Amino acid sequence: MLSIDKLRAKLSPFGYTNLIYKDSVNSTNTFAIENNFPEKTIVFAGRQTAGKGRSGRKWISESNKNIYLTIVLPKFEIKDLLPLNIIAGYAVCDAVRKFSYCNLKWPNDIVKNNKKAGGLLIETKFSGNEMVSSVLGIGLNIFEQNYPEEIKEIATSIVENENFDTNEFIVEMLVIFDKYVSKLKSDSIDIVAMWPKYSAYLNKTVSVHFNNEKKIFTERGINSNGGLIVEDISGKLSEIYTGDIGYDFCS
Ligand code: BTN
Repeated sequence: MLSIDKLRAKLSPFGYTNLIYKDSVNSTNTFAIENNFPEKTIVFAGRQTAGKGRSGRKWISESNKNIYLTIVLPKFEIKDLLPLNIIAGYAVCDAVRKFSYCNLKWPNDIVKNNKKAGGLLIETKFSGNEMVSSVLGIGLNIFEQNYPEEIKEIATSIVENENFDTNEFIVEMLVIFDKYVSKLKSDSIDIVAMWPKYSAYLNKTVSVHFNNEKKIFTERGINSNGGLIVEDISGKLSEIYTGDIGYDFCS
């Protein structure tokens, strides 16, 4: 499975020199934030005892068959966090598509055959009004085949072949992510134009869940801030920055 030595050898030329592996940790995101690691530190875990998902949900992380990692991000402004989330999804998909297939469900789900194979979670640390650090967590189901009852119907993994090399995959994904981050910094990536290549539900009917409300829209793309553009039944367009697209109404 994971070899930190192999990863270090391949990732250090890209500035990822501080790699940390924990057999078990509460959450790689929490561990990275609490320890104030420098940017480009990556924390990997075999399992997480309190893995976190979006919107306060838990990320089931008991099995060492999957990827749980957190990257300490470089300094960005708050407005860049959603675009960062989007480009991270692009990088994961690019790497997966070298051997299999996946796409994205806004803003941060990695989807295969209408099921969730992974997710991304950016978390931040503030001092007063200033964002002092941010981390990106990536959880990706690799070999898992047995899912707990509550997610069995919507969870899947990206690999069907036992010969899959997780280390090579992680290197590929992080190198692509690094390239996209540099482009985002220099304002030379067009996340809007790239979205159709990755979206699972572009021009499809989706259910959008805000708080306890559910609304039905057609997905029409994203804007340059990373917000989702949706069209309601009357043809009115709006931009969404919070909420989730459900797995219950995607067609
Ligand atoms: C989601 O889809 O809700 C986001 C899931 C993010 C899970 C990853 S696993 C590595 C990192 N550590 C965490 O506690 N969460 C993220």
